[in-house]
Amino acid sequence: MGKYEGKNVVITGGSSGFGLTTAAALVDEGARVLITGRTQATLDTAVEQLGSAAIGVRSDAASLADIDTLADRVKTEFGTIDALFVNAGIAHFAPFGAVTEQAYDEVFAINAKGPYFTVQKLAPLMNPGSGVVLTTSVVNVVGYPMVSVYAATKAALRLMARSLGRELLPQGIRVNAVSPGPIDTGILDRTLPPEVAAQTKSQMAADNPMGRFGASGEIAKAVLFLAFDATFTTGAELAVDGGASQL
Ligand SMILES: NC(=O)c1ccc[n+]([C@@H]2O[C@H](COP(=O)([O-])OP(=O)(O)OC[C@H]3O[C@@H](n4cnc5c(N)ncnc54)[C@H](OP(=O)(O)O)[C@@H]3O)[C@@H](O)[C@H]2O)c1
Repeated sequence: MGKYEGKNVVITGGSSGFGLTTAAALVDEGARVLITGRTQATLDTAVEQLGSAAIGVRSDAASLADIDTLADRVKTEFGTIDALFVNAGIAHFAPFGAVTEQAYDEVFAINAKGPYFTVQKLAPLMNPGSGVVLTTSVVNVVGYPMVSVYAATKAALRLMARSLGRELLPQGIRVNAVSPGPIDTGILDRTLPPEVAAQTKSQMAADNPMGRFGASGEIAKAVLFLAFDATFTTGAELAVDGGASQL
């Protein structure tokens, strides 16, 4: 019998990157997963890869209407859930002086507002003892150039782990954050021009204390630990960053 047999898990941004890797690890151990993303084709490919224990739901994290619909769908499919991985997010690179109001609002809507209301709408479906995991980033601890808005959204999430962790204690729900350092999921290739992405990636690997990118599976292990095994831990952030935020 798999470790997560009988468990129902929702993963926002579960159609690629380490959201998908985490979904695969859960399905391998017997869980049922509901994953979200905005792009139907990416979701379809992910569900095909994961098999019949996975459900893909097109849902924009920035849309409160979509989050309401998502909560209804989760209730219909699962009734209750045992873990919620709030992982959907976009990167945004721009020098401070060039950030526009539109970009600021978009990144905050997806990375901070969406996660906040996703937890609010799905918490009533969470079983006592269950765990929420929010995806933050090394940039909410260390000051990096070009990511001022992105870093601020992740810092907001880090604080949500504390405040929502406190408010959800009476329901027996733990709220923690996983803070990845550089993980080569393709997010930089999709966000930056090819030559800038290549240069940024080699610089990031060189700057990391362990001298490398992390792997998606290293994040998935931390997420599953926080969601299921860390039964005396709430409001915390676990850095999985090769030491970048600590050394
Ligand atoms: N990779 C890293 O080095 C790194 C480091 C620190 C933190 N992070 C964070 O980790 C999370 C996952 O990153 P990743 O590298 O795995 O990226 P990824 O491969 O681009 O995956 C992002 C996922 O989020 C979904 N998504 C994006 N915007 C969305 C929206 N508005 N509504 C719903 N889904 C949305 C994407 O699907 P669609 O595009 O189809 O919507 C995809 O499923 C993000 O929050 C990111 O900020 C990544």
